[in-house]
Amino acid sequence: MGTATEKVAARTGGGRLAALTGWIDERFPMTKLWKEQVSEYYAPKNMNFWYFFGSLALFVLVIQFVTGIFLTMNYKPSAADAFGSVEYIMRDVEWGWLIRYMHSTGASAFFVVVYLHMFRALLYGSYQKPRELLWIIGMLIYFALMAEAFFGYLLPWGNMSYWGAQVIVSLFGAIPVVGDSLTEWIRGDFYISDVTLNRFFALHVVAIPLVLVFLVVAHLMALHEVGSNNPDGVEIKKVKGPDGLPLDGIPFHPYYTVKDLIGVGVFLILFSLVIFFAPTMGGYFLEHANFDPANPLQTPPHIAPVWYFTPFYAILRAVPSKGLGAALMGLAVVLFVFLPWLDRGKVKSIRYRGPLFKFFLYSFAISFLVLGWLGLQPPTPLFTNLARFFTVVYFAFFLLMPWYTSIDKTKPVPTRVTYHAH
Ligand code: HEM
Repeated sequence: MGTATEKVAARTGGGRLAALTGWIDERFPMTKLWKEQVSEYYAPKNMNFWYFFGSLALFVLVIQFVTGIFLTMNYKPSAADAFGSVEYIMRDVEWGWLIRYMHSTGASAFFVVVYLHMFRALLYGSYQKPRELLWIIGMLIYFALMAEAFFGYLLPWGNMSYWGAQVIVSLFGAIPVVGDSLTEWIRGDFYISDVTLNRFFALHVVAIPLVLVFLVVAHLMALHEVGSNNPDGVEIKKVKGPDGLPLDGIPFHPYYTVKDLIGVGVFLILFSLVIFFAPTMGGYFLEHANFDPANPLQTPPHIAPVWYFTPFYAILRAVPSKGLGAALMGLAVVLFVFLPWLDRGKVKSIRYRGPLFKFFLYSFAISFLVLGWLGLQPPTPLFTNLARFFTVVYFAFFLLMPWYTSIDKTKPVPTRVTYHAH
């Protein structure tokens, strides 16, 4: 018998650290949480390259928080001072340029990582039963991330910030009846102004980050409730050993903590290369027009959002009617939410899917990339027609899914995961 403190002390041979651990455990479930969520959380042993991006997303989130806090110490959220305060951070604040480039590169890195993370879910059917809610929470994170990036982009008060916000906010005007009053309500003014900048700052710095943290915690709770999927799409909980543990599972710590650290290392190398050698990424991460202060009297010659929004922007521009274009653009984002129910396939992983699913998935991936590129180009007749074609390919992936997944010729799925030790 004895208290938890004495038990831990007995197990670990005593010592001050053990005593402290025991003291905390009697008051807070620290060891219990660590075991349940980390050292005794059994993850499939065959997780591959694609499984790096969840922990990387978490890592980038932390980078954005830390650099964001330091930027806020010198940034001034007013139309008169915002642009100048960013220049001040870049030129005069100690290490300010590094903090700012980490934050602006971090925004793009976040979307690279999250898009790869989402694509993994498409490859391995990770949105299918029993992970529907995990997927929906992921989509809510994605919406919050889009809002966070959009609000953040106005803050430097460059000319592209200004006109980008102008274009996106005016899209709400396409909503029947309430459209005009809604745009006015969002801006807090009749045009994008100091008032708009102030509220976007509040949303970017406090409101959305809070939502993001809440959603990420919910995402991880849902993940640990159902357990990770894997490249074979086999549920490891179905085959357990006499000790009740999944035969194909390994403890998250130390196996995946160590593996994820390698991912973080490689990520940091690539991240540093961008920050130190190509911080604007040729105008893709920081657009050229944003080096001019906001000018309500002069539109930039060619307005385009940052690359991570351009696939949807290309869909918007492909449709002649503004209302329909805005609706299709919204649908293009929202349709992902319904994947668990659009997919009638009996297997999860691409390894055992039939040729039809592969064809539609790869066509979709290509359409997403091409639309992303087209969204950055001027809308010439040729490019507009191309965007129309790829918009159809994009939507075909979702809308025809119930059909092609139900008639596809799938391969038999093994009962155990396939894994070859190196
Ligand atoms: C801040 C953004 C996000 C963070 C920090 C995050 C974090 C994680 C982590 C740590 C994992 C476990 C490791 C892994 O499977 O890679 C995971 C799994 C997963 N996430 Fe996310 N995630 C984010 C955004 C998203 C988004 C936008 C979606 C989809 C819309 C999503 C869908 C999923 C799914 C389906 C899984 C389970 C995958 C599987 O087991 O095969 N996540 N997430």
